[in-house]
Amino acid sequence: MILAPSILTVKEEERNNVLTELSNMGIIYLHLDIMDGKFVPNTTPGVSMLKKINKFDFVFDTHLMVEDPINYIDKFYKAGSDIITFHYEAVKDVLSIIRKIKSLGIKCGISIKPNTSPEVLLPYLKELDQILVMSVEPGFGGQKFMENAIDKIKYLDDLRNKCDEYNYLIEVDGGVNLSNVSMIRNAGANVVVMGTALINSTDKKLVIEEVDSL
Ligand code: DX5
Ligand code: ZN
Repeated sequence: MILAPSILTVKEEERNNVLTELSNMGIIYLHLDIMDGKFVPNTTPGVSMLKKINKFDFVFDTHLMVEDPINYIDKFYKAGSDIITFHYEAVKDVLSIIRKIKSLGIKCGISIKPNTSPEVLLPYLKELDQILVMSVEPGFGGQKFMENAIDKIKYLDDLRNKCDEYNYLIEVDGGVNLSNVSMIRNAGANVVVMGTALINSTDKKLVIEEVDSL
């Protein structure tokens, strides 16, 4: 399965070293957490950070935890985002945001918070490249995995197996570690985000290899 490291907790002065290390270890997907202090009670650097790290050859998987994603899409596209994921809960006109992202020729994802049911995505499933199931309340790294994500993953995986028109990947974000990643994979997920469990590990290579083998 695909491992998408989150560098949310990596300090700016360490960022280049960590990214070089991850790249040398074969990481392809990089998960970028973008927070506006309004949709979530935390802020992160925005497009300026992506501009600085775009020299790395990652698939930039951009997770917008912002109130008004429409104002971010062009800027992140120009800075190098390959996938832009916005939150279902943040917008009124979901379809117009999907169309905007896809009009740029990049991949589009939608994320749902722990209290949002996956059924709300039914009208959009055909259009989506990725669905990001949050397994913590968005905002901070290092929280505990919420088990209710498992049924959501299974639900989305079942639908995908039943319908040829659904081609989305299922990505899971929050509290993922080596103790729960097999269960997440068995439920049907394709991509896991890992922040603290990977970044704070004394043996990143081992973590990467274990996830890779699933
Ligand atoms: C939380 C972010 C996650 C987070 C993952 O709002 O979306 O990507 O950084 O970090 P861990 O793996 O530590 O939960
Ligand atoms: Zn994230």
